[in-house]
Amino acid sequence: MEKTEKKHQRRVRYKGTHPKSFDAKYKEHQPDKYIDTIEKIIQKGDTPAGMHRPICVDEILDILDIKSTDVGLDATLGYGGHTTEILKKLDNKGHLYAIDQDPIEIKKTKKRLSDLGYGPEILTTKNINFSDIDYLVLDSGLFDFALADLGVSSMQIDNPERGFSFKHDGPLDLRMNPQKGIPASERLRELSKDEIIGMLIENADEPHAIKIAEAIISSYTRGEMINTTKAFHQVIEQALSFLPKDQKDEAIKKASQRSFQALRIDVNHEFEALYEFLEKLPIVLKPNARVAILSFHSGEDRMVKKSFQYFYRQGVYKDISDKPIRPSMAEQSSNGRSRSAKLRWAIKS
Ligand SMILES: C[S@@+](CC[C@H](N)C(=O)[O-])C[C@H]1O[C@@H](n2cnc3c(N)ncnc32)[C@H](O)[C@@H]1O
Repeated sequence: MEKTEKKHQRRVRYKGTHPKSFDAKYKEHQPDKYIDTIEKIIQKGDTPAGMHRPICVDEILDILDIKSTDVGLDATLGYGGHTTEILKKLDNKGHLYAIDQDPIEIKKTKKRLSDLGYGPEILTTKNINFSDIDYLVLDSGLFDFALADLGVSSMQIDNPERGFSFKHDGPLDLRMNPQKGIPASERLRELSKDEIIGMLIENADEPHAIKIAEAIISSYTRGEMINTTKAFHQVIEQALSFLPKDQKDEAIKKASQRSFQALRIDVNHEFEALYEFLEKLPIVLKPNARVAILSFHSGEDRMVKKSFQYFYRQGVYKDISDKPIRPSMAEQSSNGRSRSAKLRWAIKS
């Protein structure tokens, strides 16, 4: 009898009901259509893909004390969460100038806000860097209030094509405006070992800066380029391979987060842009104008504090916050991304 050998077929791997990749999360990309899905994700303390949850909204509105006829500036439009709340206060009477350096997300946000009924009569959006507010004011006139919610948006972090996170593989880019400057992969290639160490320490207080810089340089020496988020993460894994097994995973995760942050700050010239913005802010404000700045990095919070204190001593601001306001415990537990936020305010003389 002929023996028929049955070829073993590999069982198809069960992928689960929840899409894991950014693109596959089609429900999260259509928040108007799948309200229940969005609410479930938010209740879990997460942020749906393609969305950004505004932080410290009540505290910011309290500081800005918006009158319906005000002319205001939102220097970091993002998803438009804060902008929407500000526009409600303006009640179709005043005007809001909302800017963002991200040419990809600003288009989507403009459309979303226009669909909500906020057209050019109440809202002007511009794709510019906030370091250029002195040019903006030539069109807008002086502002009654200004808000800046620093750092990156959840849409930028979560989109693998933008290369902001090691959680997904993608090009190591990290630019908020991909039309300007060079991607992080090219920037990293330009830096010497000492410059990488300096960047990791100054931008992210990275305790393993020397080991990581050595691993980056030896990867280049072996002819292995670091062009993707995964490749950058792997170099950090190699650099920390000396750590004991029980500490390694957590240490690699933290070091990766800090290293991506350090590189992002460098590629986007974030400290330089913030310094210029803070220097120019008083000249674009009307007397008694109110300013709120939300930061997520101790270096940025220090810059905001120092600038407010300096201009307060000069009599340019008549009052400033003496310590940062933190998100409520309820907000911190309902939105993990709010945990490091610090909010400071100033009032123009
Ligand atoms: C934390 S998000 C703002 C989220 C927004 N408040 C909301 O409620 O959706 C920060 C935004 O600021 C933008 N941004 C960061 N630095 C900037 C700069 N120097 N000039 C203009 N926009 C900047 C980023 O592109 C990002 O969209």
